[in-house]
Amino acid sequence: LARVTGSGALAGRTLVVSAGGTREPIDPVRFLGNRSSGAMGVAIAEAARDAGAAVTLVGANLDVPAPRGVETVVVETTAQLRERMLERADADIVVMAAAVADYRVDDVSDAKRTKESWGERPTLTLALNPDILAELAHRERSTLVVGFAAETEADDDALVQRGRDKLARKGADLLVVNRVGHAEGFGHVDTRVRVLDGSGVVADASGSKASVARAIIDAVAERIAARPA
Ligand code: CTP
Ligand code: CA
Repeated sequence: LARVTGSGALAGRTLVVSAGGTREPIDPVRFLGNRSSGAMGVAIAEAARDAGAAVTLVGANLDVPAPRGVETVVVETTAQLRERMLERADADIVVMAAAVADYRVDDVSDAKRTKESWGERPTLTLALNPDILAELAHRERSTLVVGFAAETEADDDALVQRGRDKLARKGADLLVVNRVGHAEGFGHVDTRVRVLDGSGVVADASGSKASVARAIIDAVAERIAARPA
């Protein structure tokens, strides 16, 4: 079997990866957000760069520095992230590693809210955000589309089953599933992921974010090797 992975496996390919967590404004000084640091998406960008791809990182509120040798585009909200991803949707590979806010604030205030204007028991009305991954996957495309899923399922089979359901629902080619909880995932150094396609688990990797990212890029490179550059 030819070795398709490692250095040069993505030479001549373009890859766009989203990273970080989107923020949704409440008023000019406040937002709804999540704890994603962007480390996983940045590690994917570095692994893809090292495999020879021309990489664009679309970063939402990154807590980690953007890598060298990668074009970086800065976004804050889900609407901005969607716009930047759709503009680049003709890349050979798109990876949605960002934690996208499922909801945005429907009634964003132009003026800073005060206790006086908000009262004693304020409510925020939320609206469902568009699903960027599903949108990228469900278009007419030759692009390889990769999603992520952070799940809290404790049981391994249940975790994989949730991943398979999500992969099918989103229409992506690959889905990277990792377990999050109090001791795993967000903000922690060691990670374990399973990479799924429609037939099941195609890769299972654990270790540092950098080594897990290399394993994910290996799985991507194997997929794309058959396609003309
Ligand atoms: N995603 C996206 N747009 C959204 C929500 C999620 O593109 N509005 C992407 C994420 O970047 C990730 C994948 O979809 O690659 C799975 O995200 P996840 O939050 O697990 O999926 P949801 O469909 O939002 O499901 P849940 O209700 O479990 O949060
Ligand atoms: Ca979600």
